[in-house]
Amino acid sequence: MTPPKPTPRPDRVSLWRYLRLFRHDILSAQPARLYRAWMAEFRTPFFRSYMCNDPKLIDLVLKSRPDDFPKSNRIREGLNPLLGDSVFVTNGEVWKRQRRIIDPAFEGGRLRDTFPAMWQAAEAATARLHAGEVEVEEEMSHAAADVIFRTLFSIPIEHQTAQAVFHEFRAYQRTQPILNLAAFLPLPRWFPRLHRRATLRSAAKIRGLITEMTTARAAEISAGTAPDDLATKIMLTADPQTGQTFNTEEMVDQVAIFFLAGHETSASALAWALYLLATHPQAQARVVAEAATLPDQPDFAAMSRLKFTRDVFRETLRLYPPVPMMVRENACPETFRDRPVAPGAQIVLSPWHLHRHERLWTNPDGFDPDRWSREGNKTCARDAYLPFSAGPRVCTGAGFAMVEGPLLLAHLLRHWQFDAIAGDIPVPVAHLTVRAANGIRLRLTKRG
Ligand code: HEM
Repeated sequence: MTPPKPTPRPDRVSLWRYLRLFRHDILSAQPARLYRAWMAEFRTPFFRSYMCNDPKLIDLVLKSRPDDFPKSNRIREGLNPLLGDSVFVTNGEVWKRQRRIIDPAFEGGRLRDTFPAMWQAAEAATARLHAGEVEVEEEMSHAAADVIFRTLFSIPIEHQTAQAVFHEFRAYQRTQPILNLAAFLPLPRWFPRLHRRATLRSAAKIRGLITEMTTARAAEISAGTAPDDLATKIMLTADPQTGQTFNTEEMVDQVAIFFLAGHETSASALAWALYLLATHPQAQARVVAEAATLPDQPDFAAMSRLKFTRDVFRETLRLYPPVPMMVRENACPETFRDRPVAPGAQIVLSPWHLHRHERLWTNPDGFDPDRWSREGNKTCARDAYLPFSAGPRVCTGAGFAMVEGPLLLAHLLRHWQFDAIAGDIPVPVAHLTVRAANGIRLRLTKRG
């Protein structure tokens, strides 16, 4: 069975129709030809944008000259109430300094330290499930948020403040479709800003709660009683060039992005992975067989035995990349595939289209986890696979997510069988991440 894909729009539509479609969902707002094109230019009265699927252009933007293709200030405007000056939205020297402080906390060796907390979250997620029909997007949001709280602040999702932050993030996300539009479309200056009052209220509440957590942690660090988790590691790391650490405000900005970028993305990927496994019982059986090799206690080395499970997670990230599109702005005049691109254009990189590109992948829309162990897939994996972006701005949590995903899948599948419900087929749409329009419902049965 071919996994669900949104129906693309007709090739030609008016600008206003495009804006309406875009507001509803950026995936189905795009024409089918983007799955075959190397580059596509969109002209509007306000701006030009260029979607680049050509691996050489992607390499140029993300890896060879990233400083010449910064994130647009409009993305910052769109997300500012919640994220302030977090590493996700800054550019230039500010961004470089932030990465120098954050990156060490996510290095391989440090991941090993946070692994037991991830394991406990996986056990808790497995225990929360029940037999019968379950909406797995909701469950996976809960699970991924729990992973973030446990690894970052050593508290489970049941903790009062964690509950409050999680709850507010949900309220915040319900205001997202509009925010999406504001963030991705370079609207003219005179256009009214699109922050709803509800968005601003939620963002202020979330930041208030995170400030409480961060201030309390700073006090624990001073008293020498802080747990050795990601928050402590980041707060204690000094920039090797200036010797400065983050102040409270800066740390709040970073914690906000860890919650947002770290839980929504993983939740989306886990939910789609469960759907794919439910609709591919043979693949599910292979994951179950690997999961049976996990010990009862946290053991980082056991992760190396989850080879197929990791390939299932990789293939899920190919078919349903949680971050479907990324936008940059060119600072200099450029020539892309013989076309002049004036400074200030929007450069759109679309993992969604690249990962299903008909000229790059064999069986682009099919679920084939085994492709990841085939020799012939190496070029595609290198040139046409960007779930975590690439280059110096690559996702800080990529290594973290590639442990978290397979670990959670293995735990969940060891105890539960997941089956599709006839006729209940999720339709992917892009809000902040790629989600199903009406959730993903599966039937769960406890394994004996
Ligand atoms: C499956 C899970 C995940 C996926 C698919 C994912 C994907 C991405 C992508 C595509 C970007 C680049 C966005 C852009 O440049 O426009 C990004 C950036 C980022 N991600 Fe992730 N992410 C995941 C999990 C995480 C986790 C677990 C964390 C932290 C705990 C995290 C933290 C970040 C941060 C801080 C950035 C900004 C990096 C920068 O701009 O320098 N992500 N992520």
